[in-house]
Amino acid sequence: MTVLVSRFPMSIASAIVIALAFASPLAAQQQHVAGLVGDMPPDLGNWPAPASPDGNKFVRSTAPAGAIARRDRQAALGKAMFWDEQCSSNNTIACGTCHLSEAGGTDNRPGAVFLDPTSPDHQNFGAFGVIRQSFNGLTSRIDYGFQVAPSTSIDRLVTPVAAPTMIGAYLFERLFWDMRAGPQFHDNAGFVIPNFTDWAALEDLAVEPAQSPVEMAHETANWASGFLRNKLNRTVPLALVNPATIPPDVAAFLATFPPNTSYATIFDSVFGGHPQFGGAVGVTRERFALAIAHYHRKLIPDQAPIDRGTMTLNQVAGFNFLKTNSSCFACHSVSGNPTLTLPGGVLANPFDNLFSDGRFHQIGVTPTSPPRKTPTLRNIGLHRKFFSTGHGGDGITKVFVTNFAELVKFYDLQPGFLGINGSGPGGTMTAAETNMVTDFLSRALTDPRVASRTFPFDRPTLRSEAVAFESNEYGVGTAGPSALVPEIIANVPEKIVAPGMGQWFKIGVGRAPANRAAKLLIGTAAAGGPVLVGGGFTSLVTQPTNAQGITTVHVPFPLTAVMIGIPVFTQWVVDDFGVSAFSDAARFVPY
Ligand code: HEC
Ligand code: HEC
Repeated sequence: MTVLVSRFPMSIASAIVIALAFASPLAAQQQHVAGLVGDMPPDLGNWPAPASPDGNKFVRSTAPAGAIARRDRQAALGKAMFWDEQCSSNNTIACGTCHLSEAGGTDNRPGAVFLDPTSPDHQNFGAFGVIRQSFNGLTSRIDYGFQVAPSTSIDRLVTPVAAPTMIGAYLFERLFWDMRAGPQFHDNAGFVIPNFTDWAALEDLAVEPAQSPVEMAHETANWASGFLRNKLNRTVPLALVNPATIPPDVAAFLATFPPNTSYATIFDSVFGGHPQFGGAVGVTRERFALAIAHYHRKLIPDQAPIDRGTMTLNQVAGFNFLKTNSSCFACHSVSGNPTLTLPGGVLANPFDNLFSDGRFHQIGVTPTSPPRKTPTLRNIGLHRKFFSTGHGGDGITKVFVTNFAELVKFYDLQPGFLGINGSGPGGTMTAAETNMVTDFLSRALTDPRVASRTFPFDRPTLRSEAVAFESNEYGVGTAGPSALVPEIIANVPEKIVAPGMGQWFKIGVGRAPANRAAKLLIGTAAAGGPVLVGGGFTSLVTQPTNAQGITTVHVPFPLTAVMIGIPVFTQWVVDDFGVSAFSDAARFVPY
């Protein structure tokens, strides 16, 4: 494991020299980001500058009560949007899908780990996003597949890195593993937005995922094209989720509007009087960012045992052991090792809240691995994935870390600066030491409200959790002469929306022969056997597949209230050079 930073205590200089032996080229990696979290608290106090909210141990806002109240409404709106799958291009991914509270704000979904590294659409490690889609006009369509093919994939994309947490992220001056977001908030053309010149990384970041091709959309369905604004303006907040699971504060906020009020109206109510982003303009990129950023500023994980003085003796021993026998806190503490103390068993310095120096370090597996921001260790016991890429390393070899025992073992085995036991040989921890270190890391830093999804970390149950991705697909298709077995793409929720609101329901087919007629069949009873046709199915629509063998039908059957709860079955039949090739089938229950 190589370690390269530009600022380290002298006592560890020899370790750095050893580390440098693995590294090249030095100059390129000796990057340093100005601005320590402790240098300047994220309280700029004055409206409309970002500021942390009231009601927590680390109150820093000096804004007047009226301004705080306005921010709280923004935060409630941001909370609704963060957990709203309708913020994605096809209603399948919310911000929160990859940032689950009970996983410490990370993605604990199994599956998106160590996928086939040779596939361009499947990175090694990360979080599932949407299926690649193309954008067909401002108000109308998001199609599976592209006219010009970057991909023939009909599977979900995966982010190249794991999702770090949004919980406590308000204490970082810069965000993302490579710290590319912030500290200013930039407009769509890249210019700094007035009044958002520092501590605005949350705003800067928030506008990205909704237009990211690996996360929630295709890049042309973006803010600049007007697609996202248009879509959200015609969207009723949280329409996809079970209303009983909407957090009380969000429900109370939404209840101040008539039922089925669109985001457009709500945005104008919340931001209409804003000195910088006011007016009757509905959803905008900047308003979206402010709302989500203010929600994040309320996610303050400050009730862990280490904050409340409820650490066990074993956990205190684990902390002291790491402090004495490792350099962990040189990076995983904002003020550096010397000032990280526990007088009376309680964390002394509130700026140690993050257990990160807010800087990036090159600790990658190879000498050319990119530097990464030190992630917070708060709630690390709730994570199911570790490190930006799922592995650490020794500068040459990848060492995969897939659970907490492997994590502690990994640090025990590190011989140098990064490991436990300083620069001595690795693997020297006793069972009792392993136990106390594990106890400290996995429990003393865990805020029970995060673990149990209680306020402010509460969240609705997402549609994608109620109905697992593609769990409505069944059966096996058949091939024609081309030997291709078409596959149905049927993951968009069959939600019956309020009158006048956008209708995003669509069904696609992929892995079919190119430029052939494809017909969507529909019926109300599932026929026996894998192939449904013949079970009273009617042909809905015929249209050609594209050059990639993909096609999409939008609103294939009009969803009306009388259909609620009544299952509908669909299947594709594609003309494979005179032979009918059938896809697998899908079941929908409109709601
Ligand atoms: C498909 C999964 C996915 C979705 C959806 C998603 N994120 Fe993320 N998020 C990630 C990944 C992966 C990263 C790290 C990316 C990087 O560093 O390049 C990240 C990073 C972040 C961070 C930075 C944390 C830090 O300490 O640097 C924040 C904050 C965040 N996301 C908030 C959001 C918001 C707000 C949304 C919705 C608008 C969202 N995310 C949607 C996967 C996702
Ligand atoms: C040189 C600075 C530095 C030191 C020293 C250091 N870390 Fe880290 N740590 C980092 C960085 C940077 C990352 C992110 C690396 C990545 O994910 O690619 C990280 C990642 C982690 C993670 C994974 C967090 C997550 O969200 O996935 C854990 C856990 C961790 N470190 C614990 C420790 C422990 C325990 C020690 C001491 C034995 C230690 N670190 C020493 C900088 C450091």
